[in-house]
Amino acid sequence: MNQLDLNQRVAVITGGTGGIGKAIATRFVASGAKVILWDRQPDALSAVVAETGSAAGDVVDVTDQASLARAAAGVAEQFGGIDILINAAGINGAIGPVESYPVESWHQVMAVNLTGVFLSCREVLPYLRRARHGRIVNLSSVGGKEGNPNQGAYGASKAGVIALTKSLGKELADTDIRVNAVAPAAIESEMLAKMTEEQRAFVLAKIPMGRAGRPDEVAAMVAWLATEECSFTTGATLDLTGGRATY
Ligand SMILES: NC(=O)c1ccc[n+]([C@@H]2O[C@H](COP(=O)([O-])OP(=O)(O)OC[C@H]3O[C@@H](n4cnc5c(N)ncnc54)[C@H](O)[C@@H]3O)[C@@H](O)[C@H]2O)c1
Repeated sequence: MNQLDLNQRVAVITGGTGGIGKAIATRFVASGAKVILWDRQPDALSAVVAETGSAAGDVVDVTDQASLARAAAGVAEQFGGIDILINAAGINGAIGPVESYPVESWHQVMAVNLTGVFLSCREVLPYLRRARHGRIVNLSSVGGKEGNPNQGAYGASKAGVIALTKSLGKELADTDIRVNAVAPAAIESEMLAKMTEEQRAFVLAKIPMGRAGRPDEVAAMVAWLATEECSFTTGATLDLTGGRATY
């Protein structure tokens, strides 16, 4: 593992108890960051805080602005500020064609995957501004670039994250706050395990390397995007697709 410098940076990770969130937390702690995990699952939080060596965990629903505002103020008070926000909370939603897609699932996917990223950025940004420094990394997906059949809501939400990242990156370009996204293809995770056999075979067949990515491979790229060294890249979405997305 390369040594990246996140020394003493206070980093919040939403969806922090998920497979990718956990890997990012582990990598950040190894790089010297103080990591705070936000997730809506209270049961997993304390175990994952201990497992990853994180500094704290809090029950936060990213669709709930008040919950985010309270949690952000709490982190700033306890740790003296916030330097880094990683938006990894996300859901797959129902799988199925647009013409019969459950409307409720569409709204849920948008609420967590897109509005959740907007609200998290909105509530944490004042603290990054106060620190006169900051890094935001959003978890998008190759599905948001290319669109997968039967995943219309998921793909649309992740495309929205790419556009939001572009807007926010430009809005903050004259500050020392950088905003970027990553777009992984299938990653070994519960999300992948929960897919139907058919859907899993479909997404894996599209990857030229012939395998799913690993959460630690996502974490490595996210960690670099969170460092000072990521200084001339903003509003960008970087691929993590085993050769699937080349443009
Ligand atoms: N796993 C993959 O193959 C893959 C590929 C591309 C992109 N992604 C994206 O990466 C991110 C992390 O994925 P993962 O594989 O770790 O998934 P995961 O299901 O393991 O983790 C997602 C986490 O988000 C949390 N969460 C869901 N709704 C929430 C809410 N309203 N408020 C707070 N937390 C909430 C869940 O409790 C869970 O801990 C997601 O945004 C996902 O869309 C994953």
